[in-house]
Amino acid sequence: MRQVDVVIIGAGAAGLFCAISAGQRGRKVLLIDHANKAGKKILMSGGGRCNFTNYFIEPDCFLSNNSHFCKSALARYTQWDFIALVEKYQVLYHEKKLGQLFCDNKSKDIQELLLKECEISNVEIHLKTSVENIKYNVNTKLENAKPERNNNKNTPQFILKTSKETVQCESLVIATGALSIPTMGATGFGYQVARQFGLNVLPTRAGLVPFTMPEKWLSDFSELSGTSIDAVVSCNEKSFRENILITHRGLSGPAILQISSYWNLGDEVTINLTPDLELVGWLLQKQRQKPNALLASVLCELFTKKLAQKLVELWFENKPLKQFTPTELQHIAEHLQSWKIKPHGTEGYRTAEVTLGGVDTDAISSKTMEAKSTPGLYFIGEVLDVTGHLGGFNFQWAWASGFVCGEVV
Ligand code: FDA
Repeated sequence: MRQVDVVIIGAGAAGLFCAISAGQRGRKVLLIDHANKAGKKILMSGGGRCNFTNYFIEPDCFLSNNSHFCKSALARYTQWDFIALVEKYQVLYHEKKLGQLFCDNKSKDIQELLLKECEISNVEIHLKTSVENIKYNVNTKLENAKPERNNNKNTPQFILKTSKETVQCESLVIATGALSIPTMGATGFGYQVARQFGLNVLPTRAGLVPFTMPEKWLSDFSELSGTSIDAVVSCNEKSFRENILITHRGLSGPAILQISSYWNLGDEVTINLTPDLELVGWLLQKQRQKPNALLASVLCELFTKKLAQKLVELWFENKPLKQFTPTELQHIAEHLQSWKIKPHGTEGYRTAEVTLGGVDTDAISSKTMEAKSTPGLYFIGEVLDVTGHLGGFNFQWAWASGFVCGEVV
């Protein structure tokens, strides 16, 4: 049976980065993935330009049952560290908005950089390889075991039967990601391994995902499919300001994706369509300036003609401004600034960028990513119950959790 120091299952963002960090320490690393390419999600990310990190990484941009868990790793491997790596490879990048850093050219620049680093660190990569079973022993003497393990005689040993071979290792890292986009190779394998070792897995659901809307809403808004509006979207005391996009299934766009991670079935979402305006005052002013103008034509100053006409048709009376009472104008302003929607659901894992929930971080060391109850077993990246906001936060979590784990495996 072949022996390596570290087996990492999942050659996505976190697995690749962990392999590099462990390989640089001279550890013999085998990286396994059932897909035919490493880093497939990196390739499709950021609309093909990989939003690889964000200038403004803060712990409160991550959702988790334990909001403190992500802090240590994010502080030890920062966005500036990853930017330095990107610059070392002369990958051209730019800030698109809100600190989000994208490649100028293609996501492939990031995937290639990671593969090059793996090559330099002698990481062995087995693609199209699945893991059939995992066995675990402790107190076994391994040839290259880390000295600290040999000293306390608790050297763990994992024996993995893969579709290619049987391999033995001291450290096993689970980096198989989560359930989003099954067509890209996403599986619940990481949760299965967690359960095998008695770890708790918190309920999962799709995050950063478009909303589907009820039939009536769709028939009301179908003509506006493709319309994008700058708005503030709020739910459960969280608000995001960015574009929303009306689609033929419901609502999407960055502000909707962001709020979807805070939304639960049955919750109402509030949309402010004119976040910069004191709208009642503005409407009263227009009433004085253009008393004979129809409401729809005045709202064309704020929205596209099609949207303004639709909103008036659905919600208000299209009459000259002079015919509205101040209370009616107040009501119009409230409706536009506090539009309540009740999503039918989300598009689910099929299109979600991330999965909320996952391996409970209470059972994991935030410094090393090691399972507290199973020495030698590690979980990194999205398989854990740590989910970032839209904007490069999820990759930064993958790099940071992969890095700190790679430092100790
Ligand atoms: P990841 O999913 O990357 O990797 C897991 C790996 O494990 C895969 O290679 C998979 O094939 C493998 N695997 C799974 N099950 C296995 C099994 N049973 N056996 C062997 N291998 C197995 N984030 C961001 O910060 N900026 C962005 O621009 C984007 N854009 C984006 C676009 C789209 C369309 C999606 C779906 C997601 C994003 N994301 C993103 C999110 C980001 O891609 C995601 O958070 C990270 O890829 C998570 O990294 P992991 O390594 O944890 O999982």
